[in-house]
Amino acid sequence: EIAQCLVGSEMCIRDRNIGQGEEWRMIMNPAYEKLLKCYDSYKAKIDFTPKVALILGSGLGDYADDIRVVDTLDYHDIEGFPVSTVPGHKGRFIFGYVDDVPVVCMQGRVHYYEGYEMSDVVLPTRLMKMMGAEVLFLTNAAGGIQLGMHAGDFMLIKDQIASFVPSPLRGANIEELGVRFPDMSQIYDLEFQKIARKAAASLDIDLMEGVYLQLTGPQYESPQEIAMCRTLGADAVGMSTACEAIAARHMGMRVIGISCITNLAAGISPQPLCHAEVQEAADMVAPQFKKLVAATIQGIAKTL
Ligand code: HPA
Repeated sequence: EIAQCLVGSEMCIRDRNIGQGEEWRMIMNPAYEKLLKCYDSYKAKIDFTPKVALILGSGLGDYADDIRVVDTLDYHDIEGFPVSTVPGHKGRFIFGYVDDVPVVCMQGRVHYYEGYEMSDVVLPTRLMKMMGAEVLFLTNAAGGIQLGMHAGDFMLIKDQIASFVPSPLRGANIEELGVRFPDMSQIYDLEFQKIARKAAASLDIDLMEGVYLQLTGPQYESPQEIAMCRTLGADAVGMSTACEAIAARHMGMRVIGISCITNLAAGISPQPLCHAEVQEAADMVAPQFKKLVAATIQGIAKTL
């Protein structure tokens, strides 16, 4: 195994012209090695430096239509990149402008429930930071838990609970990205929260606020699981986002997150849940959601 590692690292050294210290980090850190390979793939094909990275959740992928597209990169064309298997999730990066803000947008993300390691789930987030993005804008479809929520509501994420999914930072720390024990006391940027509230108000959009809890899925929750989530302080539940936010904070990115409440969580609504319903609800509010995201990005860009 060690011999194999050495051969692998020798190739890296030859291909990338790197020095001795880095050689050992490569051997210790397959996740970082993979990330660098993906970055090389991107660099060879794309000449664009984003300021804001945007991840679009289920059913929200059409937001990309509102971006002045400069270039695209299919996930398939990035060596070693995790590719999604969920229907309704396109798989590509879009590079372009929201007004005059350079953004990279993920049209489709991968989820832990698809079978990827957490380090693969957050690889795209890490890659977008390497591309130059200092801000991560997370969106998702989520089940509403907070009393008074309705399908079609939007929720600004103020904090999160990621304790039910493995940490994306598990394993050898990638020192190049961040520290071993990163602080998570303010994951979601307070200034960006203010900006999102202002953007919502200016558009006459009701913006709820709360805590997002990530579960692995892919099954929707049982009513008693939702009762548990509520007891723990969750206002919305979903199968993404928290892990990406952790990876982003590890790297010192500033993070904002907005959930689209596509349904009331199990046991709150008497109806059984299905993916089609989630998708349909997301489609219905997509026009408002796009406006909110665009206005918030513009506000954020002014602070950068
Ligand atoms: N639970 C988990 N994930 C979800 C839900 C839900 O009710 N709705 C959309 N994503």
